[in-house]
Amino acid sequence: MKPLDIDFNDTQAKYSQIINAYREAIKTGVLLPDTRLPSARALADFYEVNRHTVMMSLQSLVAEGWLRSEQRKAYVVSSELPIDSSAQYKKDLPLKAFSYAFAKPDYDFNEVDLSVFTHVFAGGMPDLAAFPKQAFKQSLNMSARQFNAHDMHYSDSAGLPALKGQIISYLGQARALNINDLLICNGSQEALFLVAKAFINLGDFVAIETLGYPPARMAFESCGAALVDIKQDEQGLCVDDLEAQFKLRKIKLLYLTPLHQYPTTVTLPVARRLKIYQLCYQYGVLIVEDDYDHEFHYQCQPLQPMAADDPAGIVIYISTFSKIMCAGARVGYMHAAKPVLSRLKALKKLINHKNDAFMQLAVAHWMETGEFERHLKRMTKSYKARWNAMADTFTTLQKQGLSLSFTKPDGGMAFWLNCHQDVVTLKSKARAKGIYFQSEEEFYHANSVRSLKPNDGEISHIRLGFAAQSIEQAQAGLYEIFAEQLSLI
Ligand SMILES: Cc1ncc(COP(=O)(O)O)c(C=O)c1O
Repeated sequence: MKPLDIDFNDTQAKYSQIINAYREAIKTGVLLPDTRLPSARALADFYEVNRHTVMMSLQSLVAEGWLRSEQRKAYVVSSELPIDSSAQYKKDLPLKAFSYAFAKPDYDFNEVDLSVFTHVFAGGMPDLAAFPKQAFKQSLNMSARQFNAHDMHYSDSAGLPALKGQIISYLGQARALNINDLLICNGSQEALFLVAKAFINLGDFVAIETLGYPPARMAFESCGAALVDIKQDEQGLCVDDLEAQFKLRKIKLLYLTPLHQYPTTVTLPVARRLKIYQLCYQYGVLIVEDDYDHEFHYQCQPLQPMAADDPAGIVIYISTFSKIMCAGARVGYMHAAKPVLSRLKALKKLINHKNDAFMQLAVAHWMETGEFERHLKRMTKSYKARWNAMADTFTTLQKQGLSLSFTKPDGGMAFWLNCHQDVVTLKSKARAKGIYFQSEEEFYHANSVRSLKPNDGEISHIRLGFAAQSIEQAQAGLYEIFAEQLSLI
């Protein structure tokens, strides 16, 4: 054979280009098995390169298995390749679409690129511009300096002791949670998935608020759970309905966001919490308490989590740094009764047997220096001002004639606003103007065994996050959302 023609470029080393050209020719049947290549000297002369360059390329093709080297004789295309001719390759090429046999159920994660919007009212986004980057950089530097074998090897898959210790003492002070162990996860989503994996067999029932957090629902469903919607009213989960469902079927888990119900923002009153706890104990149901934005409570001190008073050991407590820091840190954690925590730790090892040690050390240092607490204080103050301003803007809009109603939540990072109109259309018009928010229909569950979906006409709420934007920016965004209606008044 004569050497292949190669159109050399300047961006890649010549020996790589020779490898690529011969590999491709063999793969596509241009050079068939047992074809003898010209000598290295002949190839070097032809390509005007050093003979060593050619040798390096040929040896690399031998190492990859495309060529064999016949001692002192020549390089020959391997005879074991399942390629008979280039015609066959071409014939096989438009391979018929492979049918991937995915497990059920099906998922469709529509990730929205929020960077394209000028106003972002996403529900749970913290104000990243106010994050103390300099202080945290020092903690990251410390984490890199502290690089040591114990922390960096496969150990402490449930979390580095330094961070566990800081979080445990913080939870004791700030949330009345007196615990001595934790499982640190890659965000609370991993925690939710672990709980689902630990408890759900195909067809097990999980009770969930009618309007809820879709990623939690999907985690349960992915492990085979059948969801049961429980009614909720302006005070949160309806206890009577919960009991009726407990009587009707053997429910295994109840997923709750008691402090700031997701998405409606309501704080579950103490009386209901106690009744729910008693009912769950009576019917043998575990409570999965997702306390995702605990610190941001503005009317009074946040209520203690249900896990703070759990004599029966039936609460699995999940929380996160995604709101008090940022989602990118991927620090979440969970606590549960000892046997539950042991099982969750074992599963955690299976899914991911090490967390990001650099980040854990940095967050631990950040907490130890007091910077974390200072950041929390600053953000709570700033979010409180934004929460007040948002409510004031709604009131002004009402006075200007817009039909809006809302209850000012006790805390959190979002409002649940009743617009008394078709909010799906409102949302699509807003998105076209570069404004992002979510509307009510996104929070209903599609596949619950007892689906409590409203009629289309009743979908009139939108969820408006207020933490991530300045007061002025949020006000401007709100006026944009309702501009069309304001112009008609
Ligand atoms: C109800 C709820 N739980 C948990 C989370 C946090 O998830 P993660 O810790 O995985 O970032 C969020 C974030 O939006 C949430 O809204």
